Amino acid sequence: MTIKKVGVLGCGLMGSGIAQVSATAGYDVTVLEQEQPFLDKGFAGIEKSLAKFAEKGNLKEPVETVRGRLKGTTSAQALADCDIVIEAIIENIEEKKKTFSALDAIVKKDAIFASNTSSISITEVAAATKRPDRFVGLHFFNPVPLMKLVEVVRTIATSDQAFETAYEFGKSLGKVPVRTSDKTGFIVNRLLVPYLLDAIRAYEEGVGSIPDIDNAMKLGCGYPMGPFTLLDFVGLDTTYYITHVMFDEFKERRFASPPLLKRMVMAGWYGRKTGKGFYDYTDPNNPVPNKF
Ligand code: 3HC
Repeated sequence: MTIKKVGVLGCGLMGSGIAQVSATAGYDVTVLEQEQPFLDKGFAGIEKSLAKFAEKGNLKEPVETVRGRLKGTTSAQALADCDIVIEAIIENIEEKKKTFSALDAIVKKDAIFASNTSSISITEVAAATKRPDRFVGLHFFNPVPLMKLVEVVRTIATSDQAFETAYEFGKSLGKVPVRTSDKTGFIVNRLLVPYLLDAIRAYEEGVGSIPDIDNAMKLGCGYPMGPFTLLDFVGLDTTYYITHVMFDEFKERRFASPPLLKRMVMAGWYGRKTGKGFYDYTDPNNPVPNKF
């Protein structure tokens, strides 16, 4: 099937990024949010990001042309004629099931449904619809406009046709798609999460300070960010949530949350977004490591 119109559920960091790259690739995009202020905030972020690309000469068309393909809505009916709907709402399985179950009755029957979840079972969410054969995972990475990867996730119920259509769609966005299956964490988080949790354990055991561990991995391994900078960037609440889902699935210590991560989340230290995590972001351009 040919994809022309894309629906995006949620206009947060991930949803707005997915909408932006889809519009940049030439698709007509409609973003659904619960309230207008969420759309306004997401669209302001898109404007800023598109302006950056344009400034560097990395946008093939004028900003207005790309912007013209993007619509925001608070009515699910506006997604009825979408060819693919990509969900990037809160990481809560009941919310996702409820949302997709309602959309199933609205969106045309042959459209593909996709979830951007990082850890929730695609199979379980798909089972809340009457189209599990046309249901995939499309897992993007933050910041979506810059990160080249998209994980394309198939469940035991996904049809070959829907999977290949989603794979080609990922490619058409200028991303490098990788094929993976619905095992919690997929490829990236299966490997990344134990690494991030090990960094916290290493710190708790006195192996090194926060900036030293960050520098060690940045400069010794060529990673763009050290593990604590990345933890703060991803969000400690998000990471904590993922550890729960992964530990529940595999029952292995490497996926279990270290006590310090739990304490930080309980204290409301979620990283960059709250101004405090492994670093203090009072001056965002000069993060200062916290001591624990
Ligand atoms: N749109 C457009 N431009 C952007 C942008 C955006 N959204 N975000 C950053 N930029 C620009 C910056 O403004 C900067 O422009 P400049 O050179 O003109 O100043 C340029 O991109 C480079 O950014 P920075 O100078 O801030 O820093 P870096 O060179 O380090 O690049 C980065 C930023 C791409 C985020 C890089 O640090 C990186 O790759 N970090 C790792 C990110 C990562 O691992 N993400 C995955 C997280 S895991 C995940 O998402 C999965 C989930 O399930 C948990």
